[in-house]
Amino acid sequence: MGEKKTYYITTPIYYPSDNLHIGHAYTTVAADAEARYRRLKGCDVMFLTGTDEHGQKIQRKAEKKGVTPKQYVDGIVSNIKSLWKLFDISNDKFIRTTDDYHQKAVQKIFKKLYDNGDIYKSEYEGWYCTPCESFWTETQAKDGVCPDCGRKVERMKEESYFFRLSKYQDRLIDYIESHPDFIQPVSRKNEMLNNFLRPGLEDLCVSRTTFNWGIPVTFDEKHVVYVWVDALSNYISALGYGSDDDSNFRKFWPADLHLVGKEIVRFHTIIWPAILMALDLPLPKQVYGHGWLLIGDTKMSKSRGNVVDPVILINKYGSDAIRYFLLREVPFGSDGSFTNEALINRINSDLANDLGNLVSRSVSMQMKYFGGINPAEEKAGDIDREVRSMLTNLKSEVENYTETLQFPVALSEIWKCVSRLNKYIDETAPWVLAKDESRKDELAAVMHTLLEGIRIIGILLLPFMPKTAPEILKQLGLENDKEACDWESTDKWGTYKPGTAVVKGNVLFPRIDAAKDLAEFEAMSLAAKEKAEAAAKAQEEEKNEGLISIDDFRKVSLRVAVVKTAEKVEGSDKLLKLSVNAGDRDRTIVSGIAKQYSPEEIVGKKVILVSNLAPAKLKGIESQGMLLAASCGKELSLITVDKDIPEGSTVS
Ligand code: ME8
Ligand code: MG
Repeated sequence: MGEKKTYYITTPIYYPSDNLHIGHAYTTVAADAEARYRRLKGCDVMFLTGTDEHGQKIQRKAEKKGVTPKQYVDGIVSNIKSLWKLFDISNDKFIRTTDDYHQKAVQKIFKKLYDNGDIYKSEYEGWYCTPCESFWTETQAKDGVCPDCGRKVERMKEESYFFRLSKYQDRLIDYIESHPDFIQPVSRKNEMLNNFLRPGLEDLCVSRTTFNWGIPVTFDEKHVVYVWVDALSNYISALGYGSDDDSNFRKFWPADLHLVGKEIVRFHTIIWPAILMALDLPLPKQVYGHGWLLIGDTKMSKSRGNVVDPVILINKYGSDAIRYFLLREVPFGSDGSFTNEALINRINSDLANDLGNLVSRSVSMQMKYFGGINPAEEKAGDIDREVRSMLTNLKSEVENYTETLQFPVALSEIWKCVSRLNKYIDETAPWVLAKDESRKDELAAVMHTLLEGIRIIGILLLPFMPKTAPEILKQLGLENDKEACDWESTDKWGTYKPGTAVVKGNVLFPRIDAAKDLAEFEAMSLAAKEKAEAAAKAQEEEKNEGLISIDDFRKVSLRVAVVKTAEKVEGSDKLLKLSVNAGDRDRTIVSGIAKQYSPEEIVGKKVILVSNLAPAKLKGIESQGMLLAASCGKELSLITVDKDIPEGSTVS
C-alpha cells in the first residue's frame, strides 16, 4: 500500500463577531461534511478554519467599544469557537491572524514579494469599502456605493505599497481557462473572467498607513499589511509556510478545496492566485463559491438585522437537524431562502417521519419477532433483491455527489432509500408474516433487508449527521463493530451479521408542533426587531448629539420687523427700548445694543425678530421678543435684510 492520500480543505477565516447567524454556519457545515467524508474515504485530512482579526473595520469596532482591538477580538473569538463546537465541526486546526507564527509568515511573504520587485511604493487614491475591506475604482464605485455590498464607500488617499496584480492578468486568464475545475461553479468562473480579468486588472494597494491594526511591514513600520493579503496568507501560514517546520506545508499544499461564499470568490481566484504565482507556489486545486442564505430575497447579514440565531435553533432541534437542513434544502452553489416553516417541515417530514420512523419501527420489530437478535436463516425474494441492490448502489451515488459538493443531491439519494425501505415495510407487512410460523424465513429476510439497509444508510450519513448516524449504528448494535461500520462495506450485502443484537434507543427526532413553534419564532423575531430598531434609534441619536432636528428649528418663528421708535433705557448703558412691528402689531423689545447703535441710526432699519419668544422683564420693562445680532468680543451687528422685504415676512 502506498502513502495515504492527503486532502486539504479550508473555510474562509471569519471576522470575529458577537452576532453570528445561521448564514455563517453554511460554509463551515458544508466544509465539515466534505472533510468527514474524505476521512471516511481514508484520506489524511487537514481541515482548517479560523478568524480574520485585523483591519480598519475591527479597529473601528474596538474604538467604539472603548477597548483595544486585541481586547476586542480576544473577547469574541470564543463565540465562533463555541458555535463550531455546537455544530460538531471537526476542524483539525484553528488559526487566528493575531497568532504570532501567522504574523511572522505574512511579514516574510510581504518582504519576499518586495524583494522580488512585485511590490512597490506609491500613493493610493480611490474608494474603500470598510465592511468588505476592499478597494474600488471610480467606475466600480459609481454612485458612491460598494458594488459588492451596496454600502457607502469612503474616499482614500494615502501612501501605499502596491502589488503588481496587473502583471499576472494574462497568466491568470490562461490558468483559469486551462483548469476548468479551478473556479466552481462555472457561473462564477465566467463572472471572474468577464467582469474582472478580461476588462483588465489594476495593481492592488497592499498596505495602509491611516490606522495601525494590522501586521507591520518590517521594512517600513508605519505601514500595515492590507487585511486581505494578511487573511489569504492564512491558508499557507497555518501549514507552517515560512517557519522552521514547514512539513505540513510540504505535505498538504496545494489545497484541494477553498470553500467560500460567492461574495469573496474574487479575492480567492484573482488576488490569492496572483500572490501564489509571485511566490512561485502552486495554486489551490479548486475554489468553490457557494450561494447565500437569504431572508426573503436579501442576504442574511448582521448589518441588515435580518439574522437567525443558530444557537436558538440548535437548542430547540439539535445540531444535526440544522446541519441536515443547511445541506439539504438549497442546491449547493445557489442562493436559497431560510424560513422557519421550511426548517420545521424538513425536520417533521424527512427526519421525524421518514428516517426516525424507519429506525424505530425496524428496531421494535426486531425486538418483537426475534428478541432483538439478528436471525441466521433467510430466504430472499424478488422484492428483497430489488431493494438490496438499490441500497448497495447508494454508496457510489453518495460518493459522486459528495465529491462534487452536491450535498443536497447526495442526501436526496439517501432519502430515496429511506423512503424505499419504509414502503418495503408496508409491502412486506412483517406483522402478517409473523403470524405464520411457516413464513419465518421470509420474515427473517425482511428484517435482514431492513437492518442491513439501515446500516448502509447510517454509515453513509456519517459525514452529514455526526450525532445521528452513530446513534443509528448504536441502535443496530454496531457501536463497537468497526468492520460493520466501515464506509467501504456499504456496497456489500451481508455485513450485518447473524447474532447481532439491536439496542432500543431514544426517538431520533421528536415531531415538532409546527404551529406552536412558529408562533414562538414570530414572537422572538418581533422582540428582536424592536430591539434592533431601538438600537438603530439610539445610534442615530448618538450621531446627532448636539444637533437639532428641522422640526426643532421650525419651532422658532423668525420675522422681518421694522424699528419704529428707539430710546435709551434709564439706568443702563447697554439697553435700548425699541418699538418694532412685524406686520401685525407694535411690540416693545428691550435689546442690548446701546453701545453699538444710537437710537437715531436704528429707527427705520429692517431687522430679524424672534417673534414667538416668551416675554421677559428687563429693568422692569417687558420685552416681547428678541432681535438677532452677530457679536464678536465688543463688536456687534444687527442682522438686517438687504432688500426691500415687507415686515412680517418669514425668515427660514
Ligand atoms: O469574508 N449565507 O469573513 P466573513 C451564506 N474574513 N454564507 C454566508 C452568509 C449568508 N447569509 N453570511 C456569511 C470574510 N456567510 C473574510 C474571509 S478568507 C481569507 C477571509 C459566509 O466572516 C461567507 O460567505 O464575512 C463566508 O464564506 C463566511 O461566512 C465568513 O464570512
Ligand atoms: Mg462577509
